Amino acid sequence: MKSEQIVQPSERGRIKAFLAMDVLRAANARQASGERVLHLELGEPGGGAPESVTEAAARAMRGRATGYTNAFGIDELRAGIAGLYGRWHDLAIDRGRIAVTAGASGGFVLAFLAAFDPGDRVAVADPGYPCYRNTLEALGIEVVRIEAKAENGFQPTVADLEALAQPVHGLVIASPANPTGSMIGSGDLAAIVKWCERSGTRLVSDEIYHGITFDRPAETVLRHTDNAIIVNSFSKFFAMTGWRIGWLVLPDDLVAAVERLAQNLYISASTVGQHAALAALSAEDVYRRRLDVYRRNRDILLAGLTGAGLDRIAPAEGAFYAYAHIGAYSDDSIAFCSRLLAETGIAITPGVDFDPVRGHEFVRFSYAGDTADIEEACKRFGGWLESLRS
Ligand SMILES: Cc1ncc(COP(=O)(O)O)c(C=O)c1O
Repeated sequence: MKSEQIVQPSERGRIKAFLAMDVLRAANARQASGERVLHLELGEPGGGAPESVTEAAARAMRGRATGYTNAFGIDELRAGIAGLYGRWHDLAIDRGRIAVTAGASGGFVLAFLAAFDPGDRVAVADPGYPCYRNTLEALGIEVVRIEAKAENGFQPTVADLEALAQPVHGLVIASPANPTGSMIGSGDLAAIVKWCERSGTRLVSDEIYHGITFDRPAETVLRHTDNAIIVNSFSKFFAMTGWRIGWLVLPDDLVAAVERLAQNLYISASTVGQHAALAALSAEDVYRRRLDVYRRNRDILLAGLTGAGLDRIAPAEGAFYAYAHIGAYSDDSIAFCSRLLAETGIAITPGVDFDPVRGHEFVRFSYAGDTADIEEACKRFGGWLESLRS
């Protein structure tokens, strides 16, 4: 056998790119050549960490609190996260069920490994966060696509689940969701949970955008069941993307498996990050004030997009995204986004990242950044679409 036949990437390593990151690379290259680029491609909250958080991190470093922690994280942080469920949802959660992870992303790997075997089938709604699909596939788990309907805010429903051709072992949901920002109503959420319990389907609920909602608070799946896996993170509401701290709330039957996996795969999440996250839990007021900025950005962006002629936009109820139909202008969202970046300096993400089938006619705008950038983007985008029409 020739050596080059052996030295090849694995099938699993042929995971698809996260296109938003590819757009970021192209946008950064333009920025490096001196152009003003308007970054609406990533869900990267502006504002960063408040001083109390960076000070806690510095204190941890000065005090040499930098060694490994328990695989599930420092006890105070796990207790603090449990306390969040008390404050936000009036629920008492045993801290023993909480695993601190390397972001929600690290949490997904642990959750999927603990709950599913290679060849298992897991349903995911399109459009959806691309890494659900890509991570599941990299782990050898079959992704069953649910084509979520625009009239349901692109969220999956029990009718969609009933229509699946074969049973599934798992279902991943998110409310508010990326790329739409749409939410699942309380009754629909309860019905999905019931369907999962009845059919023996393991529910994974990505609650990373909890705290960033505009009209009503998001409901945790924990209100309806203790059998689901809850994924969350300090990246979004707490604006700590690069600190890489997330968490899982686990059903009792998966605690030991996830702990063994965490010990072996990561040892523990960043210790400095964990101390910073603990401080972030006490700075909730600072973060809550930022909701006004997101709300303002959303209103400016939605008015700008509809004014420019895009009127099919998913309900932007939470998170910081607008998912818009561009079918009147293009059926190739990658080409649309490349041209937009080249001609206006606006970076947005093609819909095919989130929906490989219908996403050719959609794009996602993130309004997590500066208001001035959103305003400028609306101005440039309106003029650019006008030029496409003429
Ligand atoms: C829906 C969703 N889940 C998970 C993640 C990953 O989050 P983390 O930074 O905690 O790994 C993101 C990041 O954008 C996201 O949008």
